[in-house]
Amino acid sequence: MNIAIDGPAGAGKSTIAKLVSKKLGFIYVDTGAMYRGIALYFLKNNIDFLVEENVINNCSNIDIELKYENKEQMIYLNGENVSKLIRTEEVGNAASKVAAIKAVREKLLSIQRNIAKENDVVMDGRDIGTNILPNADVKIYMTASVETRAKRRFDQLVRTGKETDIEQIKTDIEQRDYQDMNRAISPLKQADDAYYLDTSNMTIDEVVNSIIERVK
Ligand code: DC
Repeated sequence: MNIAIDGPAGAGKSTIAKLVSKKLGFIYVDTGAMYRGIALYFLKNNIDFLVEENVINNCSNIDIELKYENKEQMIYLNGENVSKLIRTEEVGNAASKVAAIKAVREKLLSIQRNIAKENDVVMDGRDIGTNILPNADVKIYMTASVETRAKRRFDQLVRTGKETDIEQIKTDIEQRDYQDMNRAISPLKQADDAYYLDTSNMTIDEVVNSIIERVK
């Protein structure tokens, strides 16, 4: 069984997808982490990823692997576990840029489809219901107001001890929404058969339960 959850940055997809997958005994697949892994490669090696040719030429040097350790998804970039290193705003913003490039999307498409073919998954991202898993059993389009999303991301960063500025986060989110929704290939949009869920005024439990209801 495949559950697809798409939505903009900071909508709460990963928190919810993790809980839903745990309740159902499914694997949680965070596809954003794969794009982040690719972005990290360019940042680490000081390669200008804004030059499309650089990205295309380097794609074959990048190996992205998903592994599950204690039921948690780990991302390996060329054999190194980078699961923690990818969780910065810098990497997230770079991921949004490289994700617009066809060669990058093509590289990840088959990895994502294969995992979903072989496992019961809750997969989150931007194009899961529209492109990666068009036949997913349940599709959710999860969103929240920009203010709510910025506040959630701010609280999350503060909890992990990272200093941040909420206005900057809001600007980043707006920019990321624009990039992810307006790119030519597989832009973020609600699939025709996806259930729209605005989580701005919902508790985590309410969101989880409303998805579980759709699965039953
Ligand atoms: O969900 P996230 O913030 O970790 O994702 C980082 C970026 O990766 C996001 O801004 C756009 C891109 N992405 C994508 O294009 N398609 C996906 N399925 C998942 C993420």
